[in-house]
Amino acid sequence: MSSFFVPNNYIKLSENNISNDIKNALSPKNGFEVKLEFNDLPYGENALSVSIDEETMTLHHDKHHKKYFDNLMDALKDENISDLTINDILSNLEKYPKNIREKIRNNGGGHFNHEFFWNLMSPKPQSKPKGELLKLIETEFKSFENFKKEFVQTGLDRFGSGWVWLCINNGKIKLSSMSNQDNPIIEKCGIPLVGCDVWEHAYYLKYKNDREAYLNAWFEVVNWAFPEKILKDLS
Ligand SMILES: [Fe+2]
Repeated sequence: MSSFFVPNNYIKLSENNISNDIKNALSPKNGFEVKLEFNDLPYGENALSVSIDEETMTLHHDKHHKKYFDNLMDALKDENISDLTINDILSNLEKYPKNIREKIRNNGGGHFNHEFFWNLMSPKPQSKPKGELLKLIETEFKSFENFKKEFVQTGLDRFGSGWVWLCINNGKIKLSSMSNQDNPIIEKCGIPLVGCDVWEHAYYLKYKNDREAYLNAWFEVVNWAFPEKILKDLS
């Protein structure tokens, strides 16, 4: 089990000092920070079975996410990464050699996105957000129900594999989809608040080709307290 927000068992992968170039380029507030470690799921593999079956959760976390993490560590094996989070690395991709940049982007995105995704779900979900997040959603999308419809449609419109993201930039929230393992940190377009995996590996065993059914079911297990806390920490 990992803790809800930032795990305490941080693994130092190198004793070398952080590169000054990278350190100076860090944003002071990156929202949810993901460390360079592979965590257990924050709940059991069958805990979300009302929406996501146990076999999908096991394969998704133990095989797919683990592979992204292992590939990321392999790409970074000759880099000084002491004290860096994956947020630091993804927001400074241009600092890395061209021959490993794409591997870091794909697998680092994969590591961040999946850690974010596990924390964004809960066996004790809330049916809708509250407070500031709800206010922002209602301002931008008229109602939570309308936001949900647009979120699902954005997921359906993503051709091939990718993610649906809700991010915040300068106090304004924006819905978009991105291909592969890209995210708002890589695209430098905001801080992610909500993200849903629409790769087939996230739903195919239970929902087959019905991505819409998966997206609607996914809303039943969203832990709205997670983006609410990100938003609170930013203010
Ligand atoms: Fe995935």
